[in-house]
Amino acid sequence: MTHHAQFATAKVQGAAEAAVVPVPPTTKGATPMATGAHVQIDGLSHRYRGMAANCLDDISITVPAGQVLALVGRSGCGKSTLLHLISGLMQPAEGGVFIDGNRVQGASPRWVVMFQAPSLFPWMTVAQNAALGLRFARRTAEIPERVPALLEMVGLSAYADRNVQDLSGGQQQRVALARSLATQPDLLLLDEPFSALDAFTRRALQQDVRRIAKELGLTVVLVTHDITEAAIMADRALIMAPDPGRIVTDTMLDPGPERHRDSPAFEAERARLAHLFETTA
Ligand SMILES: Nc1ncnc2c1ncn2[C@@H]1O[C@H](COP(=O)(O)OP(=O)(O)OP(=O)(O)O)[C@@H](O)[C@H]1O
Ligand SMILES: [Mg+2]
Repeated sequence: MTHHAQFATAKVQGAAEAAVVPVPPTTKGATPMATGAHVQIDGLSHRYRGMAANCLDDISITVPAGQVLALVGRSGCGKSTLLHLISGLMQPAEGGVFIDGNRVQGASPRWVVMFQAPSLFPWMTVAQNAALGLRFARRTAEIPERVPALLEMVGLSAYADRNVQDLSGGQQQRVALARSLATQPDLLLLDEPFSALDAFTRRALQQDVRRIAKELGLTVVLVTHDITEAAIMADRALIMAPDPGRIVTDTMLDPGPERHRDSPAFEAERARLAHLFETTA
């Protein structure tokens, strides 16, 4: 079954089908892998109820399919709000978000949001937690094949039958990542997913998430405060400033082919981004 056909099935049977107007078959190839979502944000402004001023003002961005985009900015500039608007968890006051040409109107199995806390079910095993998305989408037939492959991908094959409570914070975040990827989304939305982890675990996950995203061709929007994290993970960075939340810098990142933290190319790119941040955010 193709990727597209699987989602078509999920939409007929699943609970979250009201999310988007169906994608015409011509917009995606019949390849078994996700090709990544094309995300377009058009004149988007948002004001929270009861607030005097806009917290996001006139944001327009195009994210091509397969790009890893970092949203960086100081606390309160509207990064999480923007991510929630992209995911359809909230609706904007003005403007809109379009994924593969369709206006986002709610949640969908085609995109997943990962937060700082992994929110797993503590009484279930690693494999059961990883299978939850497939279970909710009534795609249980795919579990025996997909879950072991996903656990392999996130480096947790040896932990499949362990209770998630026995895992470290970094391992739990890996379970959450496996669960997020199980339904083969085209778009991964990450809201500071590594900020509660120690530096070493965080580095490993930063590299692994980029590698997995590139292997699967996913589009990724990553919210972070951390300039080094943006330079390690992203193809492109948008720097946001507050009052009202807006984009002040849009720059492609070129930290060298290996993205090694110790390489001169990486350090030069990190320093360039840090300077842009200091002078514009
Ligand atoms: N539910 C809400 N009601 C009213 N105002 C809100 C609400 N959520 C966020 N805000 C305000 O909107 C602005 C943007 O908040 P948001 O959480 O998007 O910022 P952020 O960039 O993600 O910050 P952080 O880096 O601290 O997570 C802030 O001024 C915040 O106080
Ligand atoms: Mg936030």
